[in-house]
Amino acid sequence: MTIDVARIRSETPGCSVVAHFNHSSCSLPPLQVTQTITEHLQREALYGPSEMGVAVADDVQATRQAAAQLLNASVEEIALTGSGSQGWGLAFASLPPLREGDRILIGRHEWGGNLSTMHRAAQKAGATVEVVPCRDDGCVSPEALASMLDDRVRLIALTWLPATNGLINPAAEIGRIARSAGVPYFIDAGQALAQVPVDVEAIGCDVLKGAGRKFLRGPRGTALLYVRRAFLKKLETPYLDVLSGPWKNGAPEPRDDARLFETGENSFALQLGLGTAIRYTLAIGVDVIRARINQLARDLRQRLSDIPAVTIHDGGQERSGIVAFTVRGLTPQEVRVSLAAEKINVAAIAAAYTPLDMAARGLTEIVRASVSYFTTEEEIERLVKAIAALAA
Ligand SMILES: Cc1ncc(COP(=O)(O)O)c(C=O)c1O
Repeated sequence: MTIDVARIRSETPGCSVVAHFNHSSCSLPPLQVTQTITEHLQREALYGPSEMGVAVADDVQATRQAAAQLLNASVEEIALTGSGSQGWGLAFASLPPLREGDRILIGRHEWGGNLSTMHRAAQKAGATVEVVPCRDDGCVSPEALASMLDDRVRLIALTWLPATNGLINPAAEIGRIARSAGVPYFIDAGQALAQVPVDVEAIGCDVLKGAGRKFLRGPRGTALLYVRRAFLKKLETPYLDVLSGPWKNGAPEPRDDARLFETGENSFALQLGLGTAIRYTLAIGVDVIRARINQLARDLRQRLSDIPAVTIHDGGQERSGIVAFTVRGLTPQEVRVSLAAEKINVAAIAAAYTPLDMAARGLTEIVRASVSYFTTEEEIERLVKAIAALAA
């Protein structure tokens, strides 16, 4: 199967306005996603938001079903949340309380928000957050992880595709180790959804989250949270609402599915838009998306590395559509602003997104150019030429 790039671009109004290399922050949505959202908002305005919420309950459930298909999960294992961090944070807060001497093992590329959450909880409890050493190529070392395990380890956390580094961590190898040790395993798949195939069964994770707005091309303010069915029983959320834990017969009755992590109040327009985005992705096929992104990112890396003033900062053997680099003599912000003036979108990302990995590599900020399956060779040419001109 191949991708009909021309059709997809004709369905993406933003393609005629910008050369977008910022899919890792937020991608450009297809028309169908925007239409789904605006049509629902119109219905709400005409007939009443509550009434229309009831009317589309099955369609919102279809979003969860599509998400389950995307992740090879069952629909009972899916929650729709407002952001990935919100879902991850709530799942973390629902773990049994940490005690003195407990250990959390993390990859060096952990998302900054998760890192802050774990550190604060560990500090309060007298527990530790320990970083698993990397292999020579900069990926988390499964062998090092295995050698660190003992009966005080309460959690293994991995950011699968880091925000500031094009490497892909060995999530399934780590999953095998976590499973055989019986340690909970959380994955931040913020950059992975719709970039690489995600199979939660093959990976063996207990919790996985990812954003709707990035490679999936869904709306901002949407995210997916997967919680393994058997693992759900071990979690106690710090709060309940009328959806997640309704009051019945004089006591709260928490849900026994992943919607335990949802609340009753939501933007149904956005959740429907997310469903459209997921189905759009599934219709193209994540395997072919992965192959095209890989080829485009490889091409971009190669062409950028031919510019003497450019340094590429991507580790790993297997790599994502994220290309991290710096340009000698220019700050990443200066590069971003100059390219934006030419209607080319890239991101300038500071160390706070992946503090440990950036510090380990002596980086304070990088330019991040990320490709999608509808990026073209012509756009890459334009970006490379613009950077070569800036560098000169
Ligand atoms: C790996 C990773 N995790 C988390 C985030 C933050 O987004 P969210 O809170 O929606 O997951 C990002 C955003 O760039 C990210 O790259």
